[in-house]
This record gives sequence, structure tokens and C-alpha cells, in this order.
Amino acid sequence: MTARSGAVVSDPATSSGAGSLLDVDDVSCVLGGVRALSEVTMHIAPGELVGIIGPNGAGKTTLFNVVTGFVPATTGEVRWDGAPLRGGKAHKVARSGLVRTFQNVGGFTGLTVAENLELATRGRDPEAIERVEALLHLADVRDRSVEDCSLATRKLVGIAMALVRTPRLLLLDEPLAGLDDTDRDRVTSLIEQVHDSGVTVCMVEHDIGRTLRLADRMVVLDAGRLVAAGTPAELARDDVLARNYLSS
Ligand SMILES: Nc1ncnc2c1ncn2[C@@H]1O[C@H](COP(=O)(O)OP(=O)(O)OP(=O)(O)O)[C@@H](O)[C@H]1O
Ligand SMILES: [Mg+2]
Repeated sequence: MTARSGAVVSDPATSSGAGSLLDVDDVSCVLGGVRALSEVTMHIAPGELVGIIGPNGAGKTTLFNVVTGFVPATTGEVRWDGAPLRGGKAHKVARSGLVRTFQNVGGFTGLTVAENLELATRGRDPEAIERVEALLHLADVRDRSVEDCSLATRKLVGIAMALVRTPRLLLLDEPLAGLDDTDRDRVTSLIEQVHDSGVTVCMVEHDIGRTLRLADRMVVLDAGRLVAAGTPAELARDDVLARNYLSS
């Protein structure tokens, strides 16, 4: 694939979607006259941890909105587990295992951590709550109101609310934003544990260093276009890409 720099980056992300969990094929999305996504093609295979980076306004959140059915693609096609997601309602998509977090902090104020997790499962899956509380070390704060939790804990509550819905693909929108270095390391290592537990992960981040360390594969968006994709090492070998996108 040709990157904006003119350099060629090998790209398993744009190869055929056979066996992939998520296929985004030639997707464009126009919002209020703004072309938020332009002809984006990418695929996510089971078991991957994919990092999506790019400047503000690149279309990263819009991509999540389109693939989770919050916003329709203007043109192009999204396939989830091989089946087209046409006019997919967000809650139906989530029930089928494609679950996201939101860019703002997680959890509804006025509710405890446990109540937020019960809300996310509609009270139907206490075992999932117990498992996720243990995985993300939230058991000690389960009875605390989310507004009394640290930002890092609230970020984890957001991730937990997605995990209790037993995702097959977890989309994380800026899970490290607003955190200090210590909390970034803590949340990063918990994301790694979630991935190691068998969940396919795709995360949007502005923390390039941690994303490069965590991800199997990276996708770079800029002004709605996919400008590069490849392993962290492949991207880093391209001087122009490295200069434009990989230095924080
Ligand atoms: N509802 C909307 N109406 C009009 N334009 C929108 C809307 N939502 C997003 N946009 C525009 O679409 C473009 C992509 O926005 P998006 O939020 O996807 O970027 P992003 O890569 O997530 O940025 P950030 O890193 O700041 O979160 C931007 O130009 C944004 O202003
Ligand atoms: Mg965003």
C-alpha cells in the first residue's frame, strides 16, 4: 500500500478479509458536509491487537461509529464475521460481540462501579461481572460511586462495561487519554491482559509510544484517509511516516 509519504508499507490489513473478524471495505462517511472518512479499507483478524493513530479530526472515532452502527457509512461496506452490517442497530451489533468504549470517561455518575456493570449486562450476567472485576482489579472499588473513583479507575470501568458484554472484538477509543504516566502503564498492562485472555482488540490512541509497544499492527489515518498500515517495525522503518506520525 502506498503511504502519503510515497513510501510503500506492507499491509496485511488491506489484504483479503478471508477469515477476518471485521472487514471495512472502501468506506466513506460524510457528516454535515464534512468528509470524515474517505475510501477506508482495513481488516482485523481474530486475535490481533490493532492500534489506530492519526491527528485530531483524522476520522478515528468516526470509524468506530460506523463499524458499530452508530453512524451509517455513506458508501462502502462493513462486514462483521463475514456478514454485511447494513443499517446495523448499535445494540444489536454489540450483542453480536462487537463492543466499543467511548472517548469520554466511562461509567454513569450516581451509580457505583458494580451498578454500572450490572447496567451494562442488564443484570443478566453476574459471572461476567465477577470475572471482569477480577481481571481489571476492580473488586475493591465495586461499591464506590464512579464520581469518587480516579480517572484511571473510571477508564477501567468504561473498559469493564464493554468486557462484561463478552466482546469478540473490543474497540477502545483513547483508553489512555488524560492519564498520568503511572496510570497509563497500569491501563496499558490491563489492556494487554484483556488481549491475552483471548479478546481481539482495536485501540485508537494519541499515546504513540505505548500503542507501538502494544500493537501487532498499526493503522494510520489522516484527514479521513488511511495513509499507512503495517507492523510497528514496518512503519518505523519509513522515515517520512516515522517523522509525521510516530513521534509524539
Ligand atoms: N456529527 C458531526 N458532524 C459534522 N462533522 C463531524 C461530526 N462528527 C465528526 N465530524 C468531523 O469529522 C472529522 C473526523 O472526526 P473524528 O471525531 O472521527 O476524528 P478523530 O480522529 O476521532 O479525532 P480526535 O483525535 O480529536 O478524537 C472531523 O473533521 C470532525 O470535525
Ligand atoms: Mg476521536
